[in-house]
Amino acid sequence: MQHKNQNLFKPSKEFSRNARIKNICEYYDLWNEAEENFEQFWKNKALEKITWFSPFSKVLNQDNAPFYKWFEGGTLNVSYQCLDRHMKTRRNKVAIMFEGEMGDFEVYTYRRLLHEVCKAANLLKKFGIEKGDRVVIYMPMIPETAIIMLACARIGAIHSVVFGGFSPEALRDRIIDAKAKLVVTADGAFRRGKPYMLKPAVDEALEKDCECVKKVLIVIRNKEQIDYIPGRDYIYNELIKNESYKCEPEIMDSEDLLFLLYTSGSTGKPKGVMHSSAGYILWAQMTMEWVFDIKDMDNYWCSADVGWITGHTYSIYGPLACGATTLIYEGTPTYPNSGRWWRMIEEYQISKFYTSPTAIRMLHADSPNEPKKYDLESLEVLGTVGEPINPNAWKWFYENVGNSKAPIVDTWWQTETGGHMITPLPGATALKPGSATLPLPGIFAQIIDEEGNIKGVGEDGLLCIVKPWPSMIRGIWGDEKRYVESYFSQAKQNGKAVYFSGDGAFYDENGYITITGRTDDVVNVAGHRIGTAEIESAIAKHSSVAESAVVGVEDSIKGETLFAFVVLNRDSSCDLGSSVETLKELNDILRVEIGPIAKIEKILYTPGLPKTRSGKIMRRILRTIARGEEIKQDISTLEDSHIVQTIANLVKAEIE
Ligand code: WTA
Repeated sequence: MQHKNQNLFKPSKEFSRNARIKNICEYYDLWNEAEENFEQFWKNKALEKITWFSPFSKVLNQDNAPFYKWFEGGTLNVSYQCLDRHMKTRRNKVAIMFEGEMGDFEVYTYRRLLHEVCKAANLLKKFGIEKGDRVVIYMPMIPETAIIMLACARIGAIHSVVFGGFSPEALRDRIIDAKAKLVVTADGAFRRGKPYMLKPAVDEALEKDCECVKKVLIVIRNKEQIDYIPGRDYIYNELIKNESYKCEPEIMDSEDLLFLLYTSGSTGKPKGVMHSSAGYILWAQMTMEWVFDIKDMDNYWCSADVGWITGHTYSIYGPLACGATTLIYEGTPTYPNSGRWWRMIEEYQISKFYTSPTAIRMLHADSPNEPKKYDLESLEVLGTVGEPINPNAWKWFYENVGNSKAPIVDTWWQTETGGHMITPLPGATALKPGSATLPLPGIFAQIIDEEGNIKGVGEDGLLCIVKPWPSMIRGIWGDEKRYVESYFSQAKQNGKAVYFSGDGAFYDENGYITITGRTDDVVNVAGHRIGTAEIESAIAKHSSVAESAVVGVEDSIKGETLFAFVVLNRDSSCDLGSSVETLKELNDILRVEIGPIAKIEKILYTPGLPKTRSGKIMRRILRTIARGEEIKQDISTLEDSHIVQTIANLVKAEIE
């Protein structure tokens, strides 16, 4: 790669020559093909990539838009697509390499993985799990997590993976909303060199309102002491030994749900994003091939936890669907020191490595010269996801980890999109640090205003996807109305509601897209989406809090952190002198209600909040104040415009 005009980094000739998409003309050819004959494009891809049990009769059904249906009439099974179909050519190829934090490792060939999945599927059946039932998975990063997910897919159960860092309360909410029949968990695992626990959180979650859950299945991992409730709790490791390694895959319709994954929105509780079988797996596979240019010889590693969409699509489903070798790592990047990941890249000869800007910034800050101590020559493509990457972090990653030759694919997408939407292609796109560049072929991403007019160069607008795509969200579990309101009510084009992502963005002179961040009340802390409404309703549980407003402010490592403006009760015994203590108490509440990822870093006690006359809190103004920026918004329509100045003075006094 060379540093060329406009600070763009061009792909190396050597890489491009062997890549699937070799240059930008090939990219545009594909893009135009999708535009000119949209349905035919997707039809060809679906026929080429998926092993169908029976063919689909309709590519796209838009009759009930925005409830789109793809590949209707077709039947398949996602576990078959990820496992059985590889038996002819990749039976003995490594599917999963696993490394535990304490250094233990395991290898699953495709054949072994298929057998384990079948055994787990048979076990799930014994627990009474049938097609369409929901199974909550609250697990660490170990191979059994992938096995259970694929076992659910095999029998047609819908899994809902809950990130292991969520609190018992948050877990309970998700169990209840999904009406799960079974919870699969582990005793715990290892993190930062010590055991940590998961099963006690399940016990606590199930203490109330979870009558739907009949059984709990426990994978033994760290062998710490846990409680057992006879008749409810069962040990996976013992039962699995008795199961047959054969299990016929359930015949699933294209639109049958594969999983739910809860994510935060601007209002209310987290929503259960629904993903279907065929469209999701098609795009997971296609994007692995295009964006990581995955090949049979690759050793691929995505560091995301399986509790997030990135872990679903790019640690498990995507790599397995294309027959790749994927690494699963249990622990933290800094144990026993900040060379852990680089050591693993060297040892496993990782060729494609996908991680988050927060991890990059953390490792950069921790030990900037560490990567140089390892042989990272195997790396061919690097990827980032989940939040904007600042040019500084990009440069360090590019030069020190990728040795100034591995392209970085800055992939923009969301839980709702199922897979990548806007990203460079490693052999074709000239890279621009901090820009996700261009939409993938078949993805009609545009920056528009509410009426659908496309924004000019440098103008901020709404990042929308104006045509449906196969791996798109199919709905919000149990709430059809919220699906339409959340995604299809902000922008229209040609009179038709289009998908709005919640992100703002702008075009540069090359048509490259740069994401400016959420325009709604969602904060992105260390790449994790947190709804400010969730935080506010949790801290309202503190007896001294009258009301609050939470916004995101810039943080050099985590991208954003939470800043809370809190109005205390008039009769509250806590005064400003005890504010440190109150902050601690509020964070204790957040840890219980949500989990340690939701932590207020900065707090300001204020006599009031800026509100419109209809009582809506103007978070945008608070965000401006918290960031120390000049207030440009019109504040004349506020109920009490003086409060803005009062708050601005308080923040200024704090900073000084
Ligand atoms: C943000 C994660 C800038 C964005 C896959 C989006 C990004 C939200 C990028 C989705 C990126 C994701 N550059 N921002 N490359 N990728 N985001 O659902 O705000 O956890 O709306 O999915 O992360 O987060 P989610």
